[in-house]
Amino acid sequence: MLRLVMWGEMRTAAIAMIDGPCQNENADGTLPTTKTERSFFPVTAELLPLTARSGHALTGRVTVPGDKSMSHRALILGALAVGQTRITGLLDGDDVRRTAAAVAALGARVARLQDGSWIVDGVGVGGLREPSEILDFGNSGTGARLMMGLVATHPITAIFSGDASLCRRPMARVTKPLLQFGAQFVGRRGGLLPLAVTGAEHPLPIEYHVPVPSAQVKSAVLLAGLNTQGQTIVVETVATRDHSERMLRHFGAHVAVEILPDGGRRIVLDGQPELKPANLDLPADPSSAAFPMVAALLSEGSDIVLDNIGLNPLRTGLIDTLLDMGGSIEILNPRLCGDEPVGDLRVRSSRLKGITVPAERAASMIDEYPILAVAAAAADGDTIMLGLEELKVKESDRLAAIARGLVACGVTVKVEGSTLTVTGHAGPPPGGGYIEAELDHRIAMAFLVLGTAAQEPVTIDDATTIDTSFPGFADLMRGLGAAIEPA
Ligand code: S3P
Repeated sequence: MLRLVMWGEMRTAAIAMIDGPCQNENADGTLPTTKTERSFFPVTAELLPLTARSGHALTGRVTVPGDKSMSHRALILGALAVGQTRITGLLDGDDVRRTAAAVAALGARVARLQDGSWIVDGVGVGGLREPSEILDFGNSGTGARLMMGLVATHPITAIFSGDASLCRRPMARVTKPLLQFGAQFVGRRGGLLPLAVTGAEHPLPIEYHVPVPSAQVKSAVLLAGLNTQGQTIVVETVATRDHSERMLRHFGAHVAVEILPDGGRRIVLDGQPELKPANLDLPADPSSAAFPMVAALLSEGSDIVLDNIGLNPLRTGLIDTLLDMGGSIEILNPRLCGDEPVGDLRVRSSRLKGITVPAERAASMIDEYPILAVAAAAADGDTIMLGLEELKVKESDRLAAIARGLVACGVTVKVEGSTLTVTGHAGPPPGGGYIEAELDHRIAMAFLVLGTAAQEPVTIDDATTIDTSFPGFADLMRGLGAAIEPA
């Protein structure tokens, strides 16, 4: 099966702005044929439909891939340090590889060693060079937005692009504060990618109050502040994941964080530090662990352990919620992995009950609503999820995608503004749906998990995007006993 991903005229225009052959074509103008070549510009891609069936208990002990948020940041800060950083546990998924390629295009040397660790030779703060090719971030909003912050205060021009999903996502949320540093942007109407960024020659430090709860916006501003004289200040009214703050400190930057009376944070970064190379060991991604976790809760007789999961308190909203719903989740051996708390999670099948999930919790589980909605479909009673506005601007409009997918699987759903209500079946939901994943890895994984616990099998149209965050997902799930096979 083939899919044509439309790029439109802007893509052609953006390509025309740089020298050399288009990245989606071989030198003789033919289309690339290997998966690696294709992955840089997804003009065509083979779909991978998968079907998941229920009836199997999940057992065993596994490690899910490394944390995506931390992996992007590790590569970026490694690229700005003076000297060599070694990273273990880096997520070797498409999103992170795009960031690796981007920092390499900006002058850092990045290599993946045979043992799976990564080496980054940094250029120092202020040392980025102008890339001679388009920076293609594929499906990754985090890569694109964080790197935009970096480029915004270097006197270079770079063109940012991505896949059809990323080219639909709002960028004004980062270009707005970055303009205040003195950066310039030329992009499509509405501030969409592809977008050309020219960084400020003499950037001015700013104080920015982030208007939406977004760690990407906060981090873009902090990264721009690195190559800016003076103090850059970010105020967030809702605390979001603080991996950037922790990792900046790990590399030697001075970052002061004040917790505000309303629970928000005021973060002050001293500009132009000399970042020192600092080895990193990254934990497994709690947002990836969420999928086998919910699958084990919903499949009778399951008992699994997920090793070395990142438990940063600004990421653990799903665990809190599943515990409130009656889920059996134990944190074993809590410890520190570098600057981040981690633990092993033992998860056993449980009867879940519907609850109300408060809006204040949304930031700490923003990527977990697709899989929470699946858990809710099997719970007893209604689960009401409040404050989901940001779900509309993820890799897909996730609020709509969750609702459509659940309805296709026979589950009653109500969307009112930014509130999602799922009526649970107090056991296996009907299932039987055919789900379009819409270039959204988490929609694809969530509905496969639904299939592992539903009365009828569930098929997704395409699992290829799962590689952006969770390479090996289907194999890992099969290893635990789940029935997930090519459709
Ligand atoms: C991320 C922040 C979140 C999250 C994304 C990763 C990050 O996005 O959804 O998957 O690494 O900073 P927002 O900042 O848009 O909430």
